[in-house]
Amino acid sequence: MQEWYTAIQSADTIDKIEEVRLAIFGKKGIMAAEFARMKEVPDDQKGTFAKELNVHKEALNNLLLDRKLFLAMAHLEATMKLEALDVTLYSPTVERGSLHPVMETMDRIVEYFTTMNFAVHTGPMVEDDFHNFEALNLPKYHPARDMQDTFYFKDGSLLRTHTSPVQIRTMMNTQPPIRMIAPGSVFRRDYDITHTPMFHQVEGLVVEEEGKVSFANLKFILEDFLKTMFGEVEVRFRPSFFPFTEPSAEVDISCIFCAGSGCRVCSKTGWLEVLGCGIVDPNVFKAVGYEKVSGYAFGLGVERFAMLIHRIGDLRSLFEGDVRLLEQFR
Ligand code: PHE
Repeated sequence: MQEWYTAIQSADTIDKIEEVRLAIFGKKGIMAAEFARMKEVPDDQKGTFAKELNVHKEALNNLLLDRKLFLAMAHLEATMKLEALDVTLYSPTVERGSLHPVMETMDRIVEYFTTMNFAVHTGPMVEDDFHNFEALNLPKYHPARDMQDTFYFKDGSLLRTHTSPVQIRTMMNTQPPIRMIAPGSVFRRDYDITHTPMFHQVEGLVVEEEGKVSFANLKFILEDFLKTMFGEVEVRFRPSFFPFTEPSAEVDISCIFCAGSGCRVCSKTGWLEVLGCGIVDPNVFKAVGYEKVSGYAFGLGVERFAMLIHRIGDLRSLFEGDVRLLEQFR
């Protein structure tokens, strides 16, 4: 028996201790063999024999469990040492991305209007003459088409020059009342410090039963919107012209750089132009087959808002993808 105590003691891996366990306690192990020998033991010695055997059985079993535990602990300790992480090691910082300032501004604008119960509609960027011009009271050869330098395709389709065609599509697909905005990219043949061939607009349109919408409603929502975006600014409506609205206005805010006293950004006028708007021209309603309704519409350039909010001087820098600029908006 003594050699089995030594065998347990000298087993130095978990695998080896398992081998020893089987050799002692397995079906064909020495314990089974010893107990089988009971038959041969004379009756008067059977008691002592069994007693002795049981003492060994228990002692061997205890020793085995101890050894197993010891080996398991040693194994755990070894792996922990091997796989330990040095949390003080230097690691290069991971660069975090962020929304482009134009998209972040767009999100803010959309959030304002959705809070005010406007639905968000979108439309195609490749448009046709009818939706981009004709239905917006801009017949062929109308001089006002020159306001927008259009990219044309060979088949006569075009890249939309504004988000206003989404107004037309929405009106032709649904019945009034309508309360919608249309955010999206628009395209014009232009490139200088304040113009890029692609930029973003948010269009707004409200249509109600005749007489239920006035310029006062338009004025209220735009004033509230501009104060939400720019803080406590003054808002001014200036008579203007758009073919699809009558009367039309351009909206200025007091210059946020010089508080209205006149600087380089506002060309010494104290005002910054930020929006176009007006009461929807009856010809537009005629084009989409609406009767006995009235409504207002507005449109704004998102880049302009982003530049004013973030004080960016050159519009083109928003499109160069220079990470040094973008890093500042994290
Ligand atoms: N579509 C006009 C533009 O692109 C903006 C506008 C929209 C003006 C709706 C009035 C009403 O300049």
